[in-house]
Amino acid sequence: MADQNLKGRRRVSLMIFLVVLSASLHVCFAEIGHSQPPKNTSTLHPTDVNTFGSSVVLPVSGNVYPLGSYSVTVEIGNPPKQFQLDIDTGSDYAWVQCYAPCVGCTLPPERRYKPATDNYVLCKDPICSAFQSSNPPQCSRNPNEKCSFQIEYADHGSVSGVVVSDSFPLRLVNGTVSRPRMAFGCGYKLKKHDPFSSPAIAGVLGLGRSKASISAQLSSVGVSQNIVGHCFNDKGGFLSFGADLVPKSGMTWAPMLRSSSDNHYSLGPAEVFFRGNPTGIKGLNVIFDTGSTYTYLNSGAYGSLLNLIMKDLNRKPLQQVQDKALPICWKGSRPFVSVRDVQNYFGILALSFAGSSNIQLQLPPQTYLIVTEQGNVCLGILNGTEVGLGTTNLIGDISMQGKLMLFDNENQRIGWASADCTHKFG
Ligand SMILES: *[C@@H]1O[C@H](CO)[C@@H](O)[C@H](O)[C@H]1NC(C)=O
Ligand SMILES: *[C@@H]1O[C@H](CO)[C@@H](O)[C@H](O)[C@H]1NC(C)=O
Ligand SMILES: *[C@@H]1O[C@H](CO)[C@@H](O)[C@H](O)[C@H]1NC(C)=O
Repeated sequence: MADQNLKGRRRVSLMIFLVVLSASLHVCFAEIGHSQPPKNTSTLHPTDVNTFGSSVVLPVSGNVYPLGSYSVTVEIGNPPKQFQLDIDTGSDYAWVQCYAPCVGCTLPPERRYKPATDNYVLCKDPICSAFQSSNPPQCSRNPNEKCSFQIEYADHGSVSGVVVSDSFPLRLVNGTVSRPRMAFGCGYKLKKHDPFSSPAIAGVLGLGRSKASISAQLSSVGVSQNIVGHCFNDKGGFLSFGADLVPKSGMTWAPMLRSSSDNHYSLGPAEVFFRGNPTGIKGLNVIFDTGSTYTYLNSGAYGSLLNLIMKDLNRKPLQQVQDKALPICWKGSRPFVSVRDVQNYFGILALSFAGSSNIQLQLPPQTYLIVTEQGNVCLGILNGTEVGLGTTNLIGDISMQGKLMLFDNENQRIGWASADCTHKFG
């Protein structure tokens, strides 16, 4: 049973950069741009995928509603200890609650990560700079100092601590267990960060474009390619690192935007379509962020879209109603059981990306609506200006459900395809 106060939880865990990273950290990549025509109804079959054997696939647990988050359990250390981490493509690197005098930790000390002397990463270690977002790095003066980290999230939460490295046993898809040493944060000062309202969560698995993400580190030690995949449904799904889950066909690919100021996943300005028609909402800066439960649009775009949806519901048997789950909800003549009950009343939304002609991300009703415990249907697209996102728009968990999403950092592209998100774990 979920804790009562967790119901209808809304995370917005986008990592905020206080200081722009130095330009020297950003390598120039070769131009890539294999855009394929939009595929709206493609569904993947197991035989479509490549097999190299060196990828990692982890089972995911969670849901959009009522839990509000997706997480994986990873093992760290020798002997290995398990940690349940919140999956967050909107931040740079992994961190866990630290066995140290801690402000804001939610796990009992024995379930936190306990570093030994040889686990500390020092300032002189090359990986340290990838954990430091300020310029110059906080610890540039003394190379033998412990490397520290600090993350600020869009929800006004933050975490800081020291960087450590330890064995990360992972089972590869060919059955071999690999034990690479990975660097991650040991956090002992946590402030108001929402994932921790969930009692079992030990930390965050940040999977952005940074060199410090677990995916980038697995690639740099030669275990698997730097390709992050996730597939979420209402029962969980899976998370993958490596090329094995990249299908040979059936994916829609678009070139990744390579902003120099942050490590977020984005595709350049997006235009919104509703029922196949342009809405006039365009030029949106959109970030793919699994750290966000719902999808957020800036006030202007949100207002326009809300108007359109309201107008479209005219003469349909739905009536606006208050529901504590989300701000905009409707009820029918009888309580709804699933979004399937209402999908005929709502149109398909689509995001079209200007940088990639003809590339559309289709958002059918089940990727922007939830049905609550009261049996009402609510809009899972929220006003980002209200939560302080400014002009940034987020594609959250809700809108990536039922799709295999691939963030291919090797080829600088983002891809997606419809999928049921079940995976057989051997
Ligand atoms: C995508 O949808 C359009 C309009 O509904 C349809 O004409 C087209 O055949 C679909 N494309 C694929 C690949 O199924
Ligand atoms: C699995 O893949 C890894 C990495 O490519 C390789 O080192 C290992 O030998 C493979 N194991 C088997 C059983 O094929
Ligand atoms: C979105 O939030 C902002 C800030 O709270 C508010 O001023 C604006 O009216 C809201 N927009 C809509 C369409 O509700």
